[in-house]
Amino acid sequence: MKKVIIDTDVGTDVDDAVAITLALKSPELKVEGITTVYGNTLLRAQIVLKLLKLMGIDDVPVVAGIEKPLLREREVWWPGHEGKGILTDEAKRDLKPVDKHAVDFLIEKILENPKEITLVTIGPLTNIAAAIIKEPKIIENVMEIIMMGGVARIFDNAPELPYIEHNIKCDPEAASVVFDSGIPITMVGLDVTLKVPIDRSHLQRIKDVGTELTDTLVRLIEIWWRFLKSDSSCMHDPLALSYCIKPEFLETTNCKVIVETQGKYTVGQTIVIPDESSNIKVACSVDSEEFIKFLIDRLCSKI
Ligand code: RIB
Ligand code: CA
Repeated sequence: MKKVIIDTDVGTDVDDAVAITLALKSPELKVEGITTVYGNTLLRAQIVLKLLKLMGIDDVPVVAGIEKPLLREREVWWPGHEGKGILTDEAKRDLKPVDKHAVDFLIEKILENPKEITLVTIGPLTNIAAAIIKEPKIIENVMEIIMMGGVARIFDNAPELPYIEHNIKCDPEAASVVFDSGIPITMVGLDVTLKVPIDRSHLQRIKDVGTELTDTLVRLIEIWWRFLKSDSSCMHDPLALSYCIKPEFLETTNCKVIVETQGKYTVGQTIVIPDESSNIKVACSVDSEEFIKFLIDRLCSKI
């Protein structure tokens, strides 16, 4: 089993909740912990704890992390629906994360398991950057980072893509620290994640399962779609997570990645340059159909 820690901004876009469920329903993975980042990280940790409870899991540590970007003056985007459809004030009282800071938890776990932990980062990179700054020894001791973040815009679909991706834009300085660290990284950016939407037909399949867990996921998906004013949304984070279960859904190419932190219009942009010698692999194409089939089957499975 592959040892993973998931670092997440669960609660805003529904795809984090889907990715966490996918991880915990995957026998290929041993989830060593889940850390939260960006905005109200205690509330985000309580959402994770509730998801775990719905799956009958009580032995995965959940740890709250840093609330603000490294440059404290950068604003935090908090649309306000976080926790709706899954948490009540009463339930929150019993949902207590580990009494430790996520940055310390990450450092301890990585050093206790040299070259064994895969970090799956599905939110802004503040916790990971802070951990690297506080204890640079984690650089040689972490196995790899699989990251949902960035957009390369150097592949065939480039003209259709936005210039800037949320997880990098929310904390570009942190992203820059992580990309420059030398840790082996697989960057799963919008180039591929925008190709894996789910729609009402997939929602119906999840609805048909009829457990408390799937009913909760359906409610969270509907809340997010109402916010987006849409009937579908992309499974960015589950696609990144799937790379540590079934890497064959994605093709990658080695690239150097630079994060723009100072441009007038381009803060958060990832500048991606093909480079065979780079420690960073960038996802360039995806088998969307097979991935979505795998995702929905796992979400609906009894495991
Ligand atoms: O740009 C997509 C990313 O931003 C995903 O991780 C989504 O959950 C949001 O955090
Ligand atoms: Ca996310």
